[in-house]
Amino acid sequence: MNTIQPCRMLLRLALLFLLGAFLAPPLSAQSIAGSDPHPDLHLYDAADFGVDPSAVTFAKDIAPILQRSCQNCHNPSGGAPMSLTTYDEVRPWAQVIKNRTAIRDRMGAMPPFFLEKDIGIQEFKYDPTLSDEELAMIQAWADNGAPRGDPADMPPPIAFDKTGRWTIGEPDLVVRSAEFTMPEVAADWWGDLGLVPTGLTEDRYVKAVEVREVNDIPVDGSASTVGGRYIFHHMTYSVGELNEDDTALDPETSASFPIHEVGRNADMFPEKAGRLLSANSALHLRAAHLHANGRETTGHLEFGFVFHPKDYEPEYRRARFLLGNGTDIDVPPGRSNQEFHSFTVLQQHTKIVAFEPHLHAPGTRMCIEAIWGGNHFTLNCVGYDHNWVKQYVYEDDAAPLLPKGTILHIVGFLDTTDANENLADNRNWAGGGRRSVSNMFIDLGYSVELTEEQFQAEMAERRAKMKSRNDYDVGCFLCWAPVTDMTSTIAEEEEQGGGR
Ligand code: HEC
Repeated sequence: MNTIQPCRMLLRLALLFLLGAFLAPPLSAQSIAGSDPHPDLHLYDAADFGVDPSAVTFAKDIAPILQRSCQNCHNPSGGAPMSLTTYDEVRPWAQVIKNRTAIRDRMGAMPPFFLEKDIGIQEFKYDPTLSDEELAMIQAWADNGAPRGDPADMPPPIAFDKTGRWTIGEPDLVVRSAEFTMPEVAADWWGDLGLVPTGLTEDRYVKAVEVREVNDIPVDGSASTVGGRYIFHHMTYSVGELNEDDTALDPETSASFPIHEVGRNADMFPEKAGRLLSANSALHLRAAHLHANGRETTGHLEFGFVFHPKDYEPEYRRARFLLGNGTDIDVPPGRSNQEFHSFTVLQQHTKIVAFEPHLHAPGTRMCIEAIWGGNHFTLNCVGYDHNWVKQYVYEDDAAPLLPKGTILHIVGFLDTTDANENLADNRNWAGGGRRSVSNMFIDLGYSVELTEEQFQAEMAERRAKMKSRNDYDVGCFLCWAPVTDMTSTIAEEEEQGGGR
Protein backbone atom coordinates (compact mmCIF):
# COMPACT_ATOMS: atom_id res chain seq x y z
CA MET A 1 0.00 0.00 0.00
CA ASN A 2 2.91 2.32 0.70
CA THR A 3 4.91 3.21 -2.35
CA ILE A 4 7.45 5.75 -3.29
CA GLN A 5 6.67 7.09 -6.69
CA PRO A 6 9.66 7.33 -9.01
CA CYS A 7 10.59 10.69 -10.45
CA ARG A 8 9.05 9.89 -13.82
CA MET A 9 5.64 9.72 -12.20
CA LEU A 10 6.29 13.09 -10.61
CA LEU A 11 7.32 14.55 -13.91
CA ARG A 12 4.09 13.30 -15.42
CA LEU A 13 2.13 14.79 -12.54
CA ALA A 14 3.98 18.07 -12.94
CA LEU A 15 3.24 18.12 -16.67
CA LEU A 16 -0.39 17.32 -16.01
CA PHE A 17 -0.49 20.11 -13.48
CA LEU A 18 1.03 22.59 -15.94
CA LEU A 19 -1.35 21.49 -18.69
CA GLY A 20 -4.19 21.69 -16.24
CA ALA A 21 -3.19 25.21 -15.30
CA PHE A 22 -3.55 26.29 -18.91
CA LEU A 23 -6.51 24.23 -20.09
CA ALA A 24 -8.72 23.64 -17.10
CA PRO A 25 -10.26 25.74 -14.38
CA PRO A 26 -7.98 26.00 -11.33
CA LEU A 27 -7.42 22.70 -9.51
CA SER A 28 -8.93 22.37 -6.08
CA ALA A 29 -5.57 21.59 -4.47
CA GLN A 30 -3.25 24.38 -3.44
CA SER A 31 0.31 24.08 -4.62
CA ILE A 32 2.58 22.57 -2.02
CA ALA A 33 5.77 22.39 -4.07
CA GLY A 34 9.13 23.40 -2.68
CA SER A 35 11.98 21.86 -0.73
CA ASP A 36 14.04 25.05 -0.23
CA PRO A 37 15.51 24.86 3.29
CA HIS A 38 15.81 28.66 3.41
CA PRO A 39 12.98 30.44 1.64
CA ASP A 40 12.46 34.18 2.25
CA LEU A 41 12.25 35.39 5.84
CA HIS A 42 8.78 36.25 7.11
CA LEU A 43 9.16 40.01 7.48
CA TYR A 44 6.23 42.25 8.39
CA ASP A 45 5.55 45.92 8.83
CA ALA A 46 4.32 46.72 12.34
CA ALA A 47 2.27 49.61 10.97
CA ASP A 48 0.12 47.07 9.10
CA PHE A 49 -1.04 45.83 12.50
CA GLY A 50 -1.74 49.31 13.80
CA VAL A 51 1.46 49.18 15.90
CA ASP A 52 3.77 52.22 16.05
CA PRO A 53 7.21 50.64 15.39
CA SER A 54 9.03 53.22 17.53
CA ALA A 55 6.80 52.49 20.53
CA VAL A 56 7.65 48.75 20.73
CA THR A 57 9.70 48.02 23.87
CA PHE A 58 11.22 45.00 25.54
CA ALA A 59 9.34 45.44 28.80
CA LYS A 60 5.90 45.92 27.30
CA ASP A 61 5.90 43.86 24.11
CA ILE A 62 8.86 41.51 23.76
CA ALA A 63 9.22 40.03 27.27
CA PRO A 64 5.68 38.52 27.22
CA ILE A 65 6.43 36.82 23.88
CA LEU A 66 9.70 35.37 25.21
CA GLN A 67 7.98 34.18 28.38
CA ARG A 68 5.33 32.30 26.43
CA SER A 69 7.37 30.85 23.58
CA CYS A 70 11.06 30.78 24.50
CA GLN A 71 11.86 30.74 28.19
CA ASN A 72 10.87 27.16 28.88
CA CYS A 73 14.16 26.33 27.11
CA HIS A 74 16.01 29.66 27.25
CA ASN A 75 16.25 29.88 31.03
CA PRO A 76 19.34 29.43 33.19
CA SER A 77 18.72 25.69 33.60
CA GLY A 78 16.89 24.98 30.35
CA GLY A 79 18.28 23.06 27.40
CA ALA A 80 19.09 26.09 25.25
CA PRO A 81 22.58 27.65 24.88
CA MET A 82 21.65 30.99 26.46
CA SER A 83 19.08 32.37 28.85
CA LEU A 84 16.57 34.90 27.52
CA THR A 85 14.84 35.97 30.72
CA THR A 86 16.17 39.49 31.42
CA TYR A 87 16.73 42.53 29.20
CA ASP A 88 20.50 42.31 29.69
CA GLU A 89 20.49 38.68 28.57
CA VAL A 90 18.31 39.32 25.54
CA ARG A 91 19.73 42.63 24.27
CA PRO A 92 22.88 41.21 22.58
CA TRP A 93 20.74 38.68 20.72
CA ALA A 94 18.17 41.11 19.31
CA GLN A 95 19.21 40.81 15.64
CA VAL A 96 19.72 37.04 15.86
CA ILE A 97 16.31 36.67 17.50
CA LYS A 98 14.77 38.74 14.73
CA ASN A 99 16.26 36.43 12.11
CA ARG A 100 15.65 33.10 13.84
CA THR A 101 12.00 33.92 14.52
CA ALA A 102 11.48 35.25 10.96
CA ILE A 103 12.60 31.88 9.53
CA ARG A 104 9.37 30.73 11.16
CA ASP A 105 8.86 27.28 9.62
CA ARG A 106 12.15 25.99 8.23
CA MET A 107 15.37 24.61 9.70
CA GLY A 108 16.94 27.01 12.19
CA ALA A 109 13.60 28.57 13.15
CA MET A 110 12.93 29.60 16.75
CA PRO A 111 10.81 28.51 18.48
CA PRO A 112 11.46 25.07 16.96
CA PHE A 113 7.94 24.23 15.79
CA PHE A 114 7.80 24.38 12.04
CA LEU A 115 4.10 24.74 11.32
CA GLU A 116 3.32 26.53 8.04
CA LYS A 117 0.77 29.15 8.90
CA ASP A 118 -0.61 29.81 5.43
CA ILE A 119 -1.99 26.36 4.72
CA GLY A 120 -4.00 23.71 6.51
CA ILE A 121 -5.17 23.21 10.08
CA GLN A 122 -3.79 25.67 12.62
CA GLU A 123 -4.98 24.32 15.97
CA PHE A 124 -2.28 22.33 17.76
CA LYS A 125 -1.55 21.46 21.35
CA TYR A 126 1.55 23.12 22.87
CA ASP A 127 1.86 25.46 19.91
CA PRO A 128 4.56 28.03 20.77
CA THR A 129 4.54 29.73 17.34
CA LEU A 130 4.45 33.49 16.93
CA SER A 131 1.72 35.37 15.09
CA ASP A 132 2.47 37.71 12.17
CA GLU A 133 1.93 40.64 14.53
CA GLU A 134 4.38 39.24 17.09
CA LEU A 135 7.00 38.77 14.37
CA ALA A 136 6.35 42.35 13.25
CA MET A 137 6.89 43.60 16.81
CA ILE A 138 10.16 41.69 17.26
CA GLN A 139 11.36 43.02 13.93
CA ALA A 140 10.39 46.63 14.69
CA TRP A 141 12.00 46.38 18.12
CA ALA A 142 15.29 44.91 16.83
CA ASP A 143 15.51 47.42 13.97
CA ASN A 144 14.79 50.28 16.34
CA GLY A 145 17.82 49.59 18.56
CA ALA A 146 16.09 47.10 20.90
CA PRO A 147 14.87 49.62 23.51
CA ARG A 148 14.26 48.46 27.07
CA GLY A 149 11.19 50.61 27.73
CA ASP A 150 9.71 51.22 31.16
CA PRO A 151 10.75 48.48 33.65
CA ALA A 152 7.36 48.94 35.29
CA ASP A 153 5.82 47.37 32.16
CA MET A 154 7.73 44.10 32.69
CA PRO A 155 5.55 41.03 33.32
CA PRO A 156 6.41 39.22 36.59
CA PRO A 157 9.28 36.77 35.97
CA ILE A 158 8.54 33.05 35.63
CA ALA A 159 10.06 30.91 38.38
CA PHE A 160 12.15 28.08 36.91
CA ASP A 161 13.15 25.23 39.13
CA LYS A 162 16.51 23.70 38.42
CA THR A 163 15.37 20.12 38.78
CA GLY A 164 13.90 20.07 35.29
CA ARG A 165 10.13 19.93 35.15
CA TRP A 166 7.89 17.39 33.55
CA THR A 167 5.81 19.13 30.91
CA ILE A 168 2.94 16.64 31.52
CA GLY A 169 2.66 17.59 35.21
CA GLU A 170 3.82 15.43 38.12
CA PRO A 171 3.73 11.80 36.87
CA ASP A 172 1.85 9.07 38.77
CA LEU A 173 4.64 6.63 37.95
CA VAL A 174 8.27 7.16 36.97
CA VAL A 175 10.17 4.18 35.54
CA ARG A 176 13.97 4.47 35.32
CA SER A 177 16.35 2.68 32.96
CA ALA A 178 19.77 1.49 34.09
CA GLU A 179 22.67 3.97 33.96
CA PHE A 180 24.75 3.97 30.82
CA THR A 181 28.19 5.54 30.43
CA MET A 182 29.44 6.82 27.08
CA PRO A 183 33.15 7.64 26.77
CA GLU A 184 34.30 11.08 25.61
CA VAL A 185 34.84 9.85 22.06
CA ALA A 186 33.38 6.59 20.79
CA ALA A 187 31.49 5.02 17.95
CA ASP A 188 27.70 5.22 18.17
CA TRP A 189 26.19 2.46 20.32
CA TRP A 190 23.15 0.55 19.14
CA GLY A 191 21.29 -2.08 20.96
CA ASP A 192 18.78 -3.54 23.34
CA LEU A 193 18.84 -2.19 26.90
CA GLY A 194 16.53 -4.94 28.13
CA LEU A 195 13.47 -4.98 30.36
CA VAL A 196 12.46 -2.48 33.05
CA PRO A 197 9.50 -3.69 35.18
CA THR A 198 6.88 -1.03 35.97
CA GLY A 199 6.02 -2.61 39.34
CA LEU A 200 2.29 -2.12 38.66
CA THR A 201 -0.04 -4.52 40.44
CA GLU A 202 -3.19 -3.41 38.61
CA ASP A 203 -4.06 -2.32 35.07
CA ARG A 204 -3.88 1.43 34.47
CA TYR A 205 -4.59 3.51 31.38
CA VAL A 206 -1.97 6.08 30.42
CA LYS A 207 -3.14 9.61 29.72
CA ALA A 208 0.30 11.09 29.01
CA VAL A 209 3.88 9.90 28.82
CA GLU A 210 7.10 11.86 28.78
CA VAL A 211 10.62 10.50 28.45
CA ARG A 212 13.65 12.47 29.53
CA GLU A 213 17.33 11.87 29.88
CA VAL A 214 18.93 12.57 33.23
CA ASN A 215 22.73 12.77 33.07
CA ASP A 216 25.76 14.27 34.75
CA ILE A 217 26.33 17.09 32.26
CA PRO A 218 26.25 20.37 34.23
CA VAL A 219 23.21 22.55 33.51
CA ASP A 220 25.30 25.69 33.02
CA GLY A 221 24.89 25.84 29.26
CA SER A 222 28.43 24.55 28.62
CA ALA A 223 27.25 22.42 25.69
CA SER A 224 26.60 24.55 22.63
CA THR A 225 24.55 22.02 20.69
CA VAL A 226 21.54 19.97 21.65
CA GLY A 227 23.45 16.75 20.88
CA GLY A 228 26.19 17.92 23.25
CA ARG A 229 23.80 17.80 26.18
CA TYR A 230 22.71 14.19 25.80
CA ILE A 231 23.92 10.69 25.06
CA PHE A 232 20.59 9.09 24.11
CA HIS A 233 19.83 10.04 20.54
CA HIS A 234 16.66 7.98 20.57
CA MET A 235 14.97 4.97 22.11
CA THR A 236 12.28 2.79 20.61
CA TYR A 237 10.42 0.88 23.30
CA SER A 238 7.47 -1.43 23.80
CA VAL A 239 5.20 -2.02 26.75
CA GLY A 240 3.49 -5.26 27.72
CA GLU A 241 3.01 -7.93 30.35
CA LEU A 242 6.01 -9.94 31.53
CA ASN A 243 6.00 -13.62 30.58
CA GLU A 244 5.99 -16.40 33.19
CA ASP A 245 9.71 -16.33 33.98
CA ASP A 246 10.01 -12.53 33.63
CA THR A 247 12.49 -12.83 30.76
CA ALA A 248 10.51 -11.18 27.97
CA LEU A 249 7.26 -9.40 27.13
CA ASP A 250 4.33 -11.63 26.29
CA PRO A 251 4.01 -11.05 22.51
CA GLU A 252 0.19 -11.07 22.79
CA THR A 253 0.23 -7.96 24.99
CA SER A 254 3.33 -6.17 23.70
CA ALA A 255 2.68 -2.86 21.92
CA SER A 256 5.07 -0.12 20.93
CA PHE A 257 4.86 3.24 22.68
CA PRO A 258 5.81 6.55 21.03
CA ILE A 259 9.53 6.85 20.41
CA HIS A 260 11.84 8.95 22.60
CA GLU A 261 14.07 11.27 20.60
CA VAL A 262 16.17 14.25 21.63
CA GLY A 263 14.05 17.38 21.34
CA ARG A 264 10.78 15.51 20.93
CA ASN A 265 7.83 16.67 22.99
CA ALA A 266 5.74 14.58 25.39
CA ASP A 267 2.73 12.50 24.33
CA MET A 268 -0.76 13.29 25.55
CA PHE A 269 -3.00 10.51 24.30
CA PRO A 270 -6.50 11.52 23.21
CA GLU A 271 -8.97 11.58 26.11
CA LYS A 272 -10.94 8.65 24.69
CA ALA A 273 -7.91 6.57 23.68
CA GLY A 274 -5.77 6.04 26.79
CA ARG A 275 -3.05 3.38 26.41
CA LEU A 276 -2.86 0.32 28.62
CA LEU A 277 -0.06 -0.26 31.13
CA SER A 278 -1.08 -3.54 32.69
CA ALA A 279 -0.40 -5.24 36.01
CA ASN A 280 2.97 -7.01 35.98
CA SER A 281 4.04 -4.99 32.94
CA ALA A 282 7.50 -3.92 31.85
CA LEU A 283 9.06 -1.59 29.33
CA HIS A 284 11.27 -3.29 26.80
CA LEU A 285 13.94 -0.76 25.80
CA ARG A 286 14.53 -2.61 22.61
CA ALA A 287 16.38 -0.21 20.32
CA ALA A 288 18.58 2.47 21.81
CA HIS A 289 20.94 4.68 19.87
CA LEU A 290 23.57 6.38 22.00
CA HIS A 291 26.29 8.73 20.87
CA ALA A 292 29.42 10.21 22.42
CA ASN A 293 29.23 13.97 22.93
CA GLY A 294 32.81 15.00 23.64
CA ARG A 295 32.82 14.43 27.41
CA GLU A 296 32.43 11.20 29.35
CA THR A 297 28.76 11.13 30.29
CA THR A 298 26.69 8.85 32.49
CA GLY A 299 22.95 9.03 32.10
CA HIS A 300 19.67 7.16 32.18
CA LEU A 301 16.18 7.63 30.83
CA GLU A 302 13.13 8.39 32.96
CA PHE A 303 9.68 7.49 31.70
CA GLY A 304 6.99 9.56 33.40
CA PHE A 305 3.39 8.27 33.14
CA VAL A 306 0.24 10.19 34.06
CA PHE A 307 -2.73 7.84 34.52
CA HIS A 308 -6.45 8.13 33.96
CA PRO A 309 -8.63 7.41 37.01
CA LYS A 310 -8.84 3.71 37.92
CA ASP A 311 -12.33 3.16 36.47
CA TYR A 312 -11.42 4.64 33.08
CA GLU A 313 -12.12 2.58 29.94
CA PRO A 314 -10.96 3.75 26.48
CA GLU A 315 -13.62 4.27 23.81
CA TYR A 316 -11.37 4.45 20.75
CA ARG A 317 -8.93 1.94 19.38
CA ARG A 318 -5.61 2.92 17.95
CA ALA A 319 -5.58 2.87 14.14
CA ARG A 320 -3.01 0.65 12.50
CA PHE A 321 -1.67 1.87 9.20
CA LEU A 322 1.76 2.85 8.07
CA LEU A 323 2.46 5.88 5.98
CA GLY A 324 5.97 6.13 4.61
CA ASN A 325 9.03 4.14 3.79
CA GLY A 326 12.08 3.36 5.87
CA THR A 327 14.18 1.26 3.55
CA ASP A 328 13.53 1.62 -0.16
CA ILE A 329 14.87 5.11 -0.65
CA ASP A 330 17.09 6.74 -3.26
CA VAL A 331 18.59 10.13 -2.41
CA PRO A 332 21.01 11.46 -5.02
CA PRO A 333 23.64 13.97 -3.87
CA GLY A 334 23.67 17.70 -4.62
CA ARG A 335 20.04 17.97 -5.63
CA SER A 336 17.27 20.23 -4.42
CA ASN A 337 13.52 19.70 -4.75
CA GLN A 338 13.58 15.96 -4.17
CA GLU A 339 10.14 14.61 -3.35
CA PHE A 340 8.99 11.35 -1.82
CA HIS A 341 5.37 10.25 -1.89
CA SER A 342 3.52 7.65 0.09
CA PHE A 343 -0.15 6.71 0.02
CA THR A 344 -2.48 4.56 2.05
CA VAL A 345 -6.21 3.94 1.82
CA LEU A 346 -7.95 4.21 5.19
CA GLN A 347 -9.84 1.00 5.95
CA GLN A 348 -11.76 2.59 8.86
CA HIS A 349 -13.12 5.99 9.75
CA THR A 350 -10.13 7.67 11.29
CA LYS A 351 -9.27 10.60 13.51
CA ILE A 352 -5.69 11.74 13.15
CA VAL A 353 -4.34 12.60 16.57
CA ALA A 354 -0.83 13.67 15.66
CA PHE A 355 1.26 14.29 12.58
CA GLU A 356 4.94 13.54 13.05
CA PRO A 357 7.15 13.95 10.02
CA HIS A 358 10.23 11.79 10.24
CA LEU A 359 12.98 12.33 7.71
CA HIS A 360 16.73 12.39 8.21
CA ALA A 361 19.38 15.05 7.59
CA PRO A 362 18.35 15.82 3.96
CA GLY A 363 14.72 16.46 5.00
CA THR A 364 13.39 20.01 4.78
CA ARG A 365 9.63 19.66 4.86
CA MET A 366 6.63 17.31 4.89
CA CYS A 367 2.99 17.73 3.88
CA ILE A 368 0.03 15.51 4.65
CA GLU A 369 -3.02 15.46 2.42
CA ALA A 370 -6.35 13.68 2.26
CA ILE A 371 -7.78 12.67 -1.10
CA TRP A 372 -11.50 11.99 -1.19
CA GLY A 373 -13.36 11.53 -4.44
CA GLY A 374 -12.17 14.25 -6.79
CA ASN A 375 -10.97 16.46 -3.96
CA HIS A 376 -7.57 16.92 -2.52
CA PHE A 377 -7.25 18.50 0.93
CA THR A 378 -3.90 19.71 2.25
CA LEU A 379 -4.25 19.01 5.94
CA ASN A 380 -0.85 20.43 6.88
CA CYS A 381 2.64 21.29 5.74
CA VAL A 382 5.48 21.66 8.23
CA GLY A 383 9.17 22.38 7.83
CA TYR A 384 11.71 19.82 9.00
CA ASP A 385 15.00 20.30 10.82
CA HIS A 386 16.75 17.05 11.70
CA ASN A 387 18.14 18.72 14.84
CA TRP A 388 14.58 18.96 16.08
CA VAL A 389 12.13 16.13 15.62
CA LYS A 390 8.75 17.50 16.45
CA GLN A 391 5.32 16.00 16.61
CA TYR A 392 2.28 18.09 15.87
CA VAL A 393 -0.63 17.07 18.10
CA TYR A 394 -3.97 18.38 16.87
CA GLU A 395 -6.42 20.05 19.22
CA ASP A 396 -9.23 17.54 19.81
CA ASP A 397 -11.81 19.67 18.05
CA ALA A 398 -9.63 20.38 15.01
CA ALA A 399 -8.10 16.95 14.36
CA PRO A 400 -8.76 15.53 10.90
CA LEU A 401 -11.88 13.32 10.80
CA LEU A 402 -11.53 11.16 7.73
CA PRO A 403 -14.06 8.70 6.32
CA LYS A 404 -12.92 5.20 5.40
CA GLY A 405 -11.84 5.12 1.80
CA THR A 406 -9.90 8.37 2.15
CA ILE A 407 -6.49 8.19 0.53
CA LEU A 408 -3.91 9.62 2.89
CA HIS A 409 -0.88 11.03 1.15
CA ILE A 410 2.37 12.35 2.58
CA VAL A 411 4.98 14.22 0.62
CA GLY A 412 8.53 14.47 1.95
CA PHE A 413 10.82 17.19 0.61
CA LEU A 414 14.58 16.74 0.61
CA ASP A 415 17.51 18.93 -0.29
CA THR A 416 21.03 17.56 -0.65
CA THR A 417 22.70 20.76 -1.87
CA ASP A 418 24.99 23.04 0.15
CA ALA A 419 21.92 24.98 1.20
CA ASN A 420 21.14 22.20 3.69
CA GLU A 421 23.61 22.59 6.57
CA ASN A 422 22.33 19.48 8.32
CA LEU A 423 24.13 17.20 5.84
CA ALA A 424 27.46 15.77 6.94
CA ASP A 425 28.67 15.43 3.35
CA ASN A 426 26.47 16.32 0.42
CA ARG A 427 28.63 14.51 -2.13
CA ASN A 428 27.33 11.12 -1.06
CA TRP A 429 24.46 9.16 -2.46
CA ALA A 430 22.31 7.88 0.38
CA GLY A 431 19.75 5.13 0.73
CA GLY A 432 17.36 4.10 3.46
CA GLY A 433 18.63 3.16 6.90
CA ARG A 434 18.72 3.97 10.56
CA ARG A 435 21.72 6.28 10.76
CA SER A 436 21.26 10.01 10.27
CA VAL A 437 23.47 9.83 7.18
CA SER A 438 20.95 7.34 5.76
CA ASN A 439 17.32 8.19 5.19
CA MET A 440 13.80 7.60 6.33
CA PHE A 441 10.50 8.97 5.15
CA ILE A 442 7.71 8.19 7.62
CA ASP A 443 4.79 9.82 9.35
CA LEU A 444 5.31 8.59 12.92
CA GLY A 445 2.11 10.27 14.05
CA TYR A 446 -0.82 8.30 15.39
CA SER A 447 -4.51 7.99 14.78
CA VAL A 448 -7.58 6.31 16.24
CA GLU A 449 -10.27 4.27 14.49
CA LEU A 450 -13.88 5.33 14.81
CA THR A 451 -17.00 3.24 14.43
CA GLU A 452 -19.78 4.64 12.23
CA GLU A 453 -21.57 5.97 15.34
CA GLN A 454 -18.41 7.53 16.76
CA PHE A 455 -17.56 9.11 13.41
CA GLN A 456 -21.04 10.63 13.09
CA ALA A 457 -20.97 11.81 16.70
CA GLU A 458 -17.55 13.46 16.27
CA MET A 459 -18.76 15.21 13.11
CA ALA A 460 -21.97 16.34 14.79
CA GLU A 461 -19.91 17.87 17.61
CA ARG A 462 -17.73 19.65 15.08
CA ARG A 463 -20.77 20.90 13.13
CA ALA A 464 -22.36 22.23 16.31
CA LYS A 465 -19.35 24.52 16.80
CA MET A 466 -19.67 26.05 13.34
CA LYS A 467 -21.57 29.28 13.03
CA SER A 468 -23.13 28.72 9.65
CA ARG A 469 -23.34 26.34 6.73
CA ASN A 470 -20.60 28.43 5.11
CA ASP A 471 -18.07 27.59 7.81
CA TYR A 472 -15.44 25.33 6.37
CA ASP A 473 -13.24 22.87 8.20
CA VAL A 474 -10.53 21.32 6.06
CA GLY A 475 -10.12 18.51 8.61
CA CYS A 476 -13.80 17.60 8.43
CA PHE A 477 -14.75 17.69 4.80
CA LEU A 478 -17.83 15.53 5.33
CA CYS A 479 -19.05 17.67 8.20
CA TRP A 480 -21.78 19.21 6.06
CA ALA A 481 -22.46 16.17 3.91
CA PRO A 482 -26.06 14.96 4.19
CA VAL A 483 -26.20 13.15 7.50
CA THR A 484 -27.12 9.59 6.55
CA ASP A 485 -26.40 6.24 8.02
CA MET A 486 -23.86 5.07 5.48
CA THR A 487 -23.91 1.42 6.52
CA SER A 488 -27.66 1.04 6.06
CA THR A 489 -27.57 2.97 2.76
CA ILE A 490 -24.96 0.61 1.40
CA ALA A 491 -26.89 -2.42 2.67
CA GLU A 492 -30.09 -1.15 0.99
CA GLU A 493 -28.29 -0.53 -2.28
CA GLU A 494 -26.89 -4.01 -2.23
CA GLU A 495 -30.31 -5.45 -1.53
CA GLN A 496 -31.66 -3.65 -4.58
CA GLY A 497 -28.75 -4.93 -6.65
CA GLY A 498 -27.57 -1.37 -7.10
CA GLY A 499 -24.20 -1.80 -5.43
CA ARG A 500 -21.27 -1.90 -7.74
C1 HEC B 1 12.29 23.70 22.82
C2 HEC B 1 13.34 24.55 23.31
C3 HEC B 1 13.49 25.93 22.70
C4 HEC B 1 12.54 26.89 22.51
C5 HEC B 1 11.05 26.81 22.85
C6 HEC B 1 13.21 28.02 21.93
N1 HEC B 1 14.53 27.75 21.77
FE1 HEC B 1 15.93 28.98 20.92
N2 HEC B 1 17.28 27.48 20.97
C7 HEC B 1 17.13 26.28 21.61
C8 HEC B 1 18.32 25.49 21.41
C9 HEC B 1 18.56 24.10 21.98
C10 HEC B 1 19.20 26.24 20.62
C11 HEC B 1 20.58 25.83 20.09
C12 HEC B 1 20.46 24.85 18.98
C13 HEC B 1 19.80 25.38 17.75
O1 HEC B 1 20.17 26.48 17.30
O2 HEC B 1 18.92 24.71 17.22
C14 HEC B 1 18.51 27.50 20.37
C15 HEC B 1 19.06 28.54 19.64
C16 HEC B 1 18.53 29.83 19.59
C17 HEC B 1 19.18 30.98 19.01
C18 HEC B 1 20.53 30.99 18.32
C19 HEC B 1 21.66 31.07 19.29
C20 HEC B 1 22.98 31.20 18.55
O3 HEC B 1 23.97 30.77 19.13
O4 HEC B 1 22.99 31.72 17.44
C21 HEC B 1 18.33 32.04 19.18
C22 HEC B 1 18.57 33.49 18.77
C23 HEC B 1 17.15 31.54 19.86
N3 HEC B 1 17.31 30.19 20.09
C24 HEC B 1 16.07 32.30 20.19
C25 HEC B 1 14.85 31.76 20.59
C26 HEC B 1 13.64 32.53 20.72
C27 HEC B 1 13.55 34.03 20.47
C28 HEC B 1 12.66 31.67 21.07
C29 HEC B 1 11.19 31.95 21.26
C30 HEC B 1 10.53 32.75 20.28
C31 HEC B 1 13.27 30.36 21.21
N4 HEC B 1 14.59 30.47 20.91
C32 HEC B 1 12.58 29.22 21.60
C33 HEC B 1 16.00 25.84 22.27
C34 HEC B 1 14.76 26.49 22.23
